[in-house]
Amino acid sequence: MSEQVIINDVGPRDGLQNQSTILPPAQRLQLIQALVAAGLKHIEFGAFVSPKAVPAMAGAAEMAAALPSADAVNYTALIPNRKGYELAQAAGVKSMGLVVAASSTMNEKNIRMSTAQAMQVAAEVAQQAKIDQVELQIYLSTAWHCPFEGAVDAGVVSDLAARMAELEVSLIVVSDTIGAAHPGEVRSLMDRLVAERGADKLSCHFHDTRALGMADAYAALEAGIRRFDASVGGLGGCPFAPGATGNIATEDLAMMLSLMGFETGIDLDKLIQAGQLANQMTSTCSGVRSLPWLSNNLQRFSTN
Ligand code: COA
Ligand code: ZN
Repeated sequence: MSEQVIINDVGPRDGLQNQSTILPPAQRLQLIQALVAAGLKHIEFGAFVSPKAVPAMAGAAEMAAALPSADAVNYTALIPNRKGYELAQAAGVKSMGLVVAASSTMNEKNIRMSTAQAMQVAAEVAQQAKIDQVELQIYLSTAWHCPFEGAVDAGVVSDLAARMAELEVSLIVVSDTIGAAHPGEVRSLMDRLVAERGADKLSCHFHDTRALGMADAYAALEAGIRRFDASVGGLGGCPFAPGATGNIATEDLAMMLSLMGFETGIDLDKLIQAGQLANQMTSTCSGVRSLPWLSNNLQRFSTN
């Protein structure tokens, strides 16, 4: 049996939070339905953040109540703080991703806390999540580069990851928030974190700003990472991190993994349809580099 790689589609959250077209919950649910139909088993459906700060994520509770195939799909929601935890918990969300950046300026700009405050909140939320039996992941963002402070020291990231592991979170999602990392530094940090924390506790999140997203994913794969975030259609970007463009496209990543013999459970034909739906809805999603080739060669990926 071929080795499995998990792709968590963050398009409905990271993808849509930064689009000029704001989609109502019903349309976001339609996109999620298309992802479920394409075989995605891990989907970040939204964020419990201030609707004033990120209008595109309004209505997350309404979405939580209407998620398709909720028993068969692992849905997560992003939370920035304790209030986000409380709102998500009240909406019945069972898996959440809290954001803590490796650089203090990014934390101040994104969640209006210092890194020390953000880690204090992480400790409190992790404790509450255990009581509530909520699965907690942490987004360790700006893990290589910060848009405000520049290069981030690997030792700082390693120390933060160790403190997050002490909180017994289920996963640390090591994130290149602005898509500035190159494959050499991805390999070196992920080798270190895999040795320190174990690959099964780690996931990687890349943006394709400098066309290095897939090379970065490959470098992390070589370091032993078997879990990645990606966005259908290559949607994405963070409104508080200047210069960030879309995530790596789920289509490109699923294709590369399939060619390399990994199992993702994704039906590429249906995934392309989901990407087309995202494109119709936003008119801005054109981040799938392999799309012209892939559309003409889908039979190569047919499992029948
Ligand atoms: N969900 C909904 N509303 C929230 C919230 C949350 N998680 N956290 C704070 N708020 C609201 C407060 O209720 C308050 O609303 P009001 O003005 O109507 O009274 C307002 O936001 C400010 O509250 P405050 O406690 O002063 O928050 P803050 O200034 O410390 O932090 C943030 C506000 C950072 C939480 C908010 O700007 C935010 O949600 N940012 C989104 C970050 C994000 O999504 N980044 C991209 C993904 S990494
Ligand atoms: Zn991102």
